[in-house]
Amino acid sequence: MLYRRVEEELQAAFLAVCPEAGDAGLQVRKCPRPRFGDYQCNGILAWAKRHGGDARVLAGAIASRLPGSGSVCTSVEAAGPGFLNFRIRPGALAQCLQDEGAPEQLVGKVQRSRRVVVDFSSPNVAKSMHVGHIRSTNLGDCIVRILRFLGHDVVTDNHIGDWGTQFGKLIVGWKSFLERDALERDALGEMERLYRKINRESERDPGVLERSRAELVALQGGDAVNRGIWQQMIAHSRRGFDAVYRRLGVRFDHTLGESFYNHRLSGLMEEMLGSGLAAESRGALMVFFPDDPSLRGHPAMIRKSDGAANYMTTDLATLEYRMERWRPDEILYVTDGRQQLHFRQLFGIWRRWRPGCTTRLTHIWFGSITGRDGRPFRSRSGEVVKLAELLDEAEERALRIVEDRNPSLDAARKREVAAMVGIGAVKYADLLPNRQSDYAFDWEAMLSLKGNTAPYLQYAYTRTRGIFRRFDGDVAEVCAGARLRLEAPEELDLARHLVDFPLALRSVIEEYRPNYLCLYLYQLAGLLSRFYENCPILRAGEEAVRDSRLLLIERAGAILRRGLELLGIRTGQMM
Ligand code: ARG
Repeated sequence: MLYRRVEEELQAAFLAVCPEAGDAGLQVRKCPRPRFGDYQCNGILAWAKRHGGDARVLAGAIASRLPGSGSVCTSVEAAGPGFLNFRIRPGALAQCLQDEGAPEQLVGKVQRSRRVVVDFSSPNVAKSMHVGHIRSTNLGDCIVRILRFLGHDVVTDNHIGDWGTQFGKLIVGWKSFLERDALERDALGEMERLYRKINRESERDPGVLERSRAELVALQGGDAVNRGIWQQMIAHSRRGFDAVYRRLGVRFDHTLGESFYNHRLSGLMEEMLGSGLAAESRGALMVFFPDDPSLRGHPAMIRKSDGAANYMTTDLATLEYRMERWRPDEILYVTDGRQQLHFRQLFGIWRRWRPGCTTRLTHIWFGSITGRDGRPFRSRSGEVVKLAELLDEAEERALRIVEDRNPSLDAARKREVAAMVGIGAVKYADLLPNRQSDYAFDWEAMLSLKGNTAPYLQYAYTRTRGIFRRFDGDVAEVCAGARLRLEAPEELDLARHLVDFPLALRSVIEEYRPNYLCLYLYQLAGLLSRFYENCPILRAGEEAVRDSRLLLIERAGAILRRGLELLGIRTGQMM
């Protein structure tokens, strides 16, 4: 935790200069221009703005006290309007990487652990997960993995859509047209077929709509047969979702669907009407936002004119339940960008409904996936691409690559590697762009072994294992006894990057942007290959140099592997 030591030295110097400052929580980040230093602090500026004082003078005074004796820095310089630049002593770098260079130690646990509820994936029952669901699932899962790794207390909840007017039609379809075999083979496909069929039927025969409405009312009224059918639909759907989650390596602590909150809805609507938070307007119940300029023109409906609750009502009840049950410090919702208004309204209503609540509410939104032509991503026949089929294709394509590169592998191993590479490629391509921009789905680019892809990074990891296999000695023993010597510029550059692993994770969590970790790992792989090119390892001549380099590779490999795992991507000994 080299950066943390720099922060401690900084904090101590700051206190010496400014005894009344207390814990200003000054942080460092990687210096954007390595020419000027390894780390930079720009927090003095913000502090001076808040508390008064000349940032330039403050920074100068701090710099003059650093480095003190025993410092991990060699030089500390004030720059610009009040920045501080730090350069790390190579000896401290080597020491840190040698003594606490394993990813867990390097990162350590956060000082203040927060409880965070994460609502992600959340597909709708009786419909296959399609390509759009991969973004919420990947982003959510990655953020959860990193939060947990940092020591936060995370609760995951898959808020599946298991309630709504569609069940009227689905029940009519189930009662008249269900094909049991098809249900066993592909339950979600069969339920989609039923839904489409009823929609077609009702165009010809308005009586079908009438029946659908009656079945819905019966379901809502607790009719045993309809509830039984509805429960079967949920069970079948969940089995389908779970098959996808298993392939993606994603798990949830809870799957509390929308229906879980039904019994809270009428009380909630009454309370909001009673307290004056909501008002009746043309038969519907609305919340207006007269004091919020960004929402003034966008009242939110919490009860439709037919008396039914809606998505917003359910989300309010869900929020209340989560607060009661988990008392979280923060709740994250991971959905696509089209729901931005919904969540602004939800958070706005909540703030007025429960003004004392300090829980942070965050909508982590993302753009859509397009085809290479920039238009919505569709299958060749023009349909929405099902997620399960997308993953099949990823594995098939990866299998062809494995067969090509490694024909001697046995068939089962080939399939294993293909799953690791194929699924990894899809996930990485999804996490790599800034989440708020749309991205084009491109098989060739994401499966390429060159370029910023999962296969490239997985290969970089495999290569570190390959070196260990060729070494005839006990790597673990060598690494335990080796003394890290950082002399060649490529060694130093690699080592400096390795100790910044925690900073990469911190920046992901600050903005909930996994692409920062992708960038970090891609740079790591690049530094690693430059190191191989310039620094012989097994033929290093001197044994001490060889051992030091083996240790450096061991550290790099462990971080690469852990970093990919935090993205939800697997690595292997072979590819
Ligand atoms: N089921 C919703 C959809 O497919 C996503 C739910 C997101 N979570 C929430 N609490 N609203 O659009």
